[in-house]
Amino acid sequence: MSLKAYNAAVFHLLGDPADMGADVSRGYYEDGLLIVEDGVVKKLGARAELEPGLPADVQIASFANALIIPGFVDSHIHFPQMDVIASPGDQLMDWLNEYTFPAEAAFEDPAHGQASARFFLDELLRNGTTSALVFGSVHKASVDALFGEALARNMRIIAGKVLMDRNAPAHLCDTPETGYGDSKALIQKWHGKGRLRYAVTPRFAFTCSEKQLRLAGDLLNEFDDILLHTHLSENEREISLVKELFPQFRDYLDVYDGCGLLANRSVFAHGVHLSADEMKRLSQAKAGVAFCPTSNLFLGSGLFDFARVKKHGIKIGLGTDIGGGTSFSLFQTMNEAYKVCQLQGDYLDAFTSFYLATLGGAELLGLADKIGNFEPGKEADFIVLDLEASPLLARRLKSCRTIEERLFVLSILGDDRAVRRAYLAGDLAYARA
Ligand code: GUN
Ligand code: ZN
Repeated sequence: MSLKAYNAAVFHLLGDPADMGADVSRGYYEDGLLIVEDGVVKKLGARAELEPGLPADVQIASFANALIIPGFVDSHIHFPQMDVIASPGDQLMDWLNEYTFPAEAAFEDPAHGQASARFFLDELLRNGTTSALVFGSVHKASVDALFGEALARNMRIIAGKVLMDRNAPAHLCDTPETGYGDSKALIQKWHGKGRLRYAVTPRFAFTCSEKQLRLAGDLLNEFDDILLHTHLSENEREISLVKELFPQFRDYLDVYDGCGLLANRSVFAHGVHLSADEMKRLSQAKAGVAFCPTSNLFLGSGLFDFARVKKHGIKIGLGTDIGGGTSFSLFQTMNEAYKVCQLQGDYLDAFTSFYLATLGGAELLGLADKIGNFEPGKEADFIVLDLEASPLLARRLKSCRTIEERLFVLSILGDDRAVRRAYLAGDLAYARA
């Protein structure tokens, strides 16, 4: 049995501030103690209350000028797109052809996948992201490489091999049958091993035949705890092309629904241009969307209507959408999310931002019983933030009076520099040099 204790200011969310009210949803201890036993949260509270109850031989790791929060959850990211970040000029459909497909083709080489998996997971951890829902490439080996590396780190990663059988270069296409077979083999090999889970991952309706989407739906139904992960309604041109390709369906979401892919474990990236009817059906199905503001702005896709999607009761998480997105940092993702809301006359408060980046993401990915906050029994994935990470951050935080103000400043000024340490299931996985 291993008992460890960590002391700093500690913040987490007990639920959605919109449902519980901001004051009830937040848990904050100015001088807190997080007690971890065998990789699992045992207790969180004020140090003065909890320290006397600790066995004498337990060492307390104390961090000055620091804030401990749950590890971030990235609800939508592409593993094979690190070399695509910051590729200029095009919107989605041309960007895919010009930059993205060539970069993904390189993952045919398993050695490239292996080396990239190490860099990718290092980069997630450097940014304080301890869990993610990840697109692989079409190659089965890309997902083998990612899962292998994540398993070695005991990291909670959900991923899947991309399914795409048309409207892409031939060397990047599978077939409905090989896509189904490869995905199933990956599920049998990795799903439930360590902290790994599988997501059936059709790229989007534009690159998948109806037959492929239907087989993906069959696969989803064969395993009750895997996810569906795809793109939906990101860009106007994409939407009109999907309508042309699938005239038998009434809208974009209906294509997925008609093929058995709309469920309470479906995660749709983007949803920038959803109709009222699509929102209603997402809500009825208890499906969720990943809000990817840095990508939506960079690719000129549009402004995600957070307030409206939220009002429909649809689950929402935050995604970096690397490489359409421009930062691995959930802080920078919160920063852009705030501005996307501002441009539509809405206010995204700091508690809600941090909820989306932690517990909200966990709920979206079906992991809220395991991660997302410091409730006793949850896996101890947490990060130690450095409140003096830069001179400007230190200066600006000094004038904050409340935790809400401090969190807001972090959400705007924070980035990888603010992450001092990251822990996975109670073990140190990253320490800033
Ligand atoms: N739609 C289909 N594929 C992609 C992708 O790789 N990135 C983004 N942002 N949207 C997509
Ligand atoms: Zn994406």
